[in-house]
Amino acid sequence: MKSEPHRIFVCTSCRDKTTGGRPGPQLIGRLKSALRSVCPVADTDFIVSGVACMAGCARPCVVAFQAAEKAAWLFGDMDPQADVDDLVAFARQYRDMGDGWCSSGQRPGKLRRTALARVPAAPVPAGSDGKVSL
Ligand code: FES
Repeated sequence: MKSEPHRIFVCTSCRDKTTGGRPGPQLIGRLKSALRSVCPVADTDFIVSGVACMAGCARPCVVAFQAAEKAAWLFGDMDPQADVDDLVAFARQYRDMGDGWCSSGQRPGKLRRTALARVPAAPVPAGSDGKVSL
């Protein structure tokens, strides 16, 4: 388990396809509340914040997971009413994965079929000079 917090970014610009509203702020609030209730150390394990756009605009609402030395994830079609439990389940799973890598069948609920991207972790510099071997 990593000691640095895991970051969860929620798009605050996405617009609901039906209502035209912006579900991001509501999703942030519900996600923070749910994480606090299921993870006693949520404030140090996860940082949830809003971001203007993550280029998944056609699949609102978009949520990303990122942590040091782990694959980053981008999910679309997240509903602040229906999908908080799946996001919390994935947050806990992501926290406990060594490299952040998992298959669709290993992810909870709706997150099995809503991944927009899985980005490998950045390589760790090989030497003290900060240069990365390619
Ligand atoms: S507006 Fe939400 S990803 Fe672009």
